[in-house]
Amino acid sequence: MSTLDLKKIHENSDGTITGLTESAFKEVVLNNPYFAAGGGLMVLGAGLAMARSGITRGSGFLYRQLLVDLEIPSKDKSYLWFLEWMSQYKHRSSRHLSVETNFVQHDNGAVTTKFSLVPGPGKHLIRYQGAFMLVNRERSGRLLDMTSGTPFETVTLTTLYRDRALFGNLLAEAKSMALKAREGKTVLFTSWGPDWRPFGQPRKKRMLGSVILDKGVAEHIVSDVRDFLSSGDWYHQRGIPYRRGYLLYGPPGSGKTSFIQALAGELDYNICILNLSENNLTDDRLNHLMNHIPERSVLLLEDIDAAFNKREQSDESGFTSGVTFSGLLNALDGVASAEECITFMTTNHPEKLDPALLRPGRVDYKVLIGNASEHQVREMFLRFYEGEDQLCDEFMEKYNELALENVSTAQLQGLFVYNKRDPHNAISMIDTLKNPNTVF
Ligand SMILES: Nc1ncnc2c1ncn2[C@@H]1O[C@H](COP(=O)(O)OP(=O)(O)OP(=O)(O)O)[C@@H](O)[C@H]1O
Ligand SMILES: *[C@@H]1O[C@H](CO)[C@@H](O)[C@H](O)[C@H]1NC(C)=O
Ligand SMILES: *[C@@H]1O[C@H](CO)[C@@H](O)[C@H](O)[C@H]1NC(C)=O
Ligand SMILES: *[C@@H]1O[C@H](CO)[C@@H](O)[C@H](O)[C@H]1NC(C)=O
Ligand SMILES: *[C@@H]1O[C@H](CO)[C@@H](O)[C@H](O)[C@H]1NC(C)=O
Ligand SMILES: [Mg+2]
Repeated sequence: MSTLDLKKIHENSDGTITGLTESAFKEVVLNNPYFAAGGGLMVLGAGLAMARSGITRGSGFLYRQLLVDLEIPSKDKSYLWFLEWMSQYKHRSSRHLSVETNFVQHDNGAVTTKFSLVPGPGKHLIRYQGAFMLVNRERSGRLLDMTSGTPFETVTLTTLYRDRALFGNLLAEAKSMALKAREGKTVLFTSWGPDWRPFGQPRKKRMLGSVILDKGVAEHIVSDVRDFLSSGDWYHQRGIPYRRGYLLYGPPGSGKTSFIQALAGELDYNICILNLSENNLTDDRLNHLMNHIPERSVLLLEDIDAAFNKREQSDESGFTSGVTFSGLLNALDGVASAEECITFMTTNHPEKLDPALLRPGRVDYKVLIGNASEHQVREMFLRFYEGEDQLCDEFMEKYNELALENVSTAQLQGLFVYNKRDPHNAISMIDTLKNPNTVF
């Protein structure tokens, strides 16, 4: 009798519920301990009766009374989370899949591709925590999402009114699943038109301890940032814009960029990189970008001195020549946003910077990240050759003999990487550090 009813549902619905076949249904029934225990027969009967009456009367009124919809547009964050969740979910009845290619980054940095099958456009029936849900993925043929170049889509979930609370559970589950995959990673954003877009794959976090700055420098910056992040109320009570600017200056290869990356990882923040000398970045776009930074991100402006040296104003050929200096100053002050804003700037030539840029409110914290100090050389050596204290002393002795003082940490890294497993050879090659342009 139940088989008969089932067929009826299938016919009557006329393709609106695809994939609910007899065998799929039997599978659900047989694999479910509740049904297997025999207690489910009554529920099943009631459910089928309800479904049958719903279909035979087929009135929109009943539909509205009994069913709830949840619409997830593709521009919403939870859209991707949901599709990912669906791809993990054992949707027995899906007959229509589409492929989504993902890149998986391994610990050694290599990237391999992985295909996951997500429900394609169309209708799918799933069972979640005991309730049936109809998933309808629709693609709008004409409209294109201008920011990503993909067609607009919506996913609509439909379930019984009494099961509406499950929507919340489902989305929460999808979200935590997606965030777990990103755990331990730092996402880089770059500007794309007026928007921020993830750039490349999320990167593995760099350990803060792997960037060796002079004694106490790193600790001081970290505690300053943490203190800033925990004093939101303090700022709001005093009506001060909740933002803080940091300037790291110093010679090339001293670890400025690496430190900011490691710091972002430590704080569990993402990084928004803005290239001020980008060809058609205008003041307007800059302002828009700085006021729409993704949450939990630090803004990174690299080489701020370089942005204004080359071209000051736009030429008549139509290409705008980057932002103006006053445009940058205004964007940095910006409209007071509710969110916190941490800006990191780096430069190799602090002497070229205009004092207006360095005034408090734009740059609140300025620190030199210099060439390697004796402390740093020691720490770097011991980081590469763990436990080799004696060889470290030997290395330092030679280092001081040669009166090396203008060596960058990147040079040291180069030497140690070249001699990965051979500290003795690193010591004998120490005089290569004299020339900053040595290529090993
Ligand atoms: N203090 C340091 N501790 C550990 N590694 C370092 C340090 N400084 C530089 N390095 C290494 O040197 C390389 C270059 O460093 P990084 O890009 O951070 O330099 P930078 O200061 O940003 O230089 P630039 O001013 O040219 O942008 C990286 O591979 C990094 O691992
Ligand atoms: C920034 O943009 C300029 C101009 O397009 C380019 O020459 C430069 O390499 C870019 N810098 C970075 C760090 O991407
Ligand atoms: C940016 O400049 C390039 C040429 O350098 C041009 O082709 C492109 O259309 C410009 N983009 C925008 C959004 O103006
Ligand atoms: C190191 O750099 C400083 C500043 O540029 C310079 O005065 C000094 O002579 C340099 N020392 C060596 C050993 O090159
Ligand atoms: C760092 O070393 C370079 C040479 O490698 C030198 O030109 C520069 O002045 C030094 N910087 C500082 C701050 O000592
Ligand atoms: Mg850098």
